[in-house]
Amino acid sequence: MNFQQEMKARKKMVESALDIMLPGSEVEPVSIHQAMRYAVLNGGKRLRPILVMEGARLGGKDMEKVLPLACAVELIHCFSLVHDDLPAMDDDDLRRGKPTCHKVFGEAMAILAGDALLVRAFELSANMLQDSSLPTENVLWAWNELATATGSRGMIAGQVIDLESENKSVDGDTLRVMHQKKTGALIKAALKSGAIVSGADEEQLQALEEFAGHFGLAFQITDDILDVEGDERITGKKSGSDAAGNKATYVSVFGLSRANQMAEECIEQAIRSLDIFGEEGWFLKELARSVLGRRS
Ligand code: IPE
Ligand code: IPE
Ligand code: MG
Ligand code: MG
Ligand code: MG
Repeated sequence: MNFQQEMKARKKMVESALDIMLPGSEVEPVSIHQAMRYAVLNGGKRLRPILVMEGARLGGKDMEKVLPLACAVELIHCFSLVHDDLPAMDDDDLRRGKPTCHKVFGEAMAILAGDALLVRAFELSANMLQDSSLPTENVLWAWNELATATGSRGMIAGQVIDLESENKSVDGDTLRVMHQKKTGALIKAALKSGAIVSGADEEQLQALEEFAGHFGLAFQITDDILDVEGDERITGKKSGSDAAGNKATYVSVFGLSRANQMAEECIEQAIRSLDIFGEEGWFLKELARSVLGRRS
């Protein structure tokens, strides 16, 4: 399979697993389950679950084994998007080409749907303890990585820095830390947790961590670029939202051309981190290259 086919196949596996792992829209109270399903089953590239699966493959396990963990990471991501779009945060009306969760279900239900997605994610990770082919201590370790990456020293820390940087001029270091936390942390935890449950060794984990650090930063830099240059019909998000919210971004701080250059540098570094995998690193290399010039 080539890269595009592989992406498509993995995305399909994730989509059907997500559908099964979320409570049905007829389950009471139906409003919350409808809102949760709306927030998750509404498109999306499924990058993070695909990274969990790749971590598992590189660690030597069947990708299907880690589907509950892959879905858990996607649910955490979707929770972060639902809350990120709220009027109190980025105040966005469009997500994945559709009205944002709070526009359809109201703010209160969107807050609760985000909360419930986060909790469902930890339920799914806990369920992996029942799989006797996965060492308990590794499942717990992965679980811990995921929690730390999501919490007030990880993704949520990044969101705090993001909010506190509105209407301010921030330096490059603050901006980098903000991006590494708000977006990089979960991306890193995705790849790493998949590898951890699959029993990857220390050297592999180190390399994956380094790769994901550079990759995650590049991913958020290109997100900043897409907010300026992207086509709404392809990104599924309103362009110019960062400027409207006076956000600190790589484009606002460094300008478009330097931001593009910085994303390229990150991707070069990411690819270099994969040397120890030899041929086996092909998928992550292709994935890294695809971030540059991505349109959604
Ligand atoms: C959007 O993430 C928010 C960021 C952290 C940059 P994605 O670009 O992965 O969004 P979806 O999941 O494909 O919608
Ligand atoms: C979002 O960053 C990061 C998280 C949701 C954790 P952005 O605010 O730039 O993401 P978009 O552009 O709304 O997707
Ligand atoms: Mg935001
Ligand atoms: Mg946003
Ligand atoms: Mg953005």
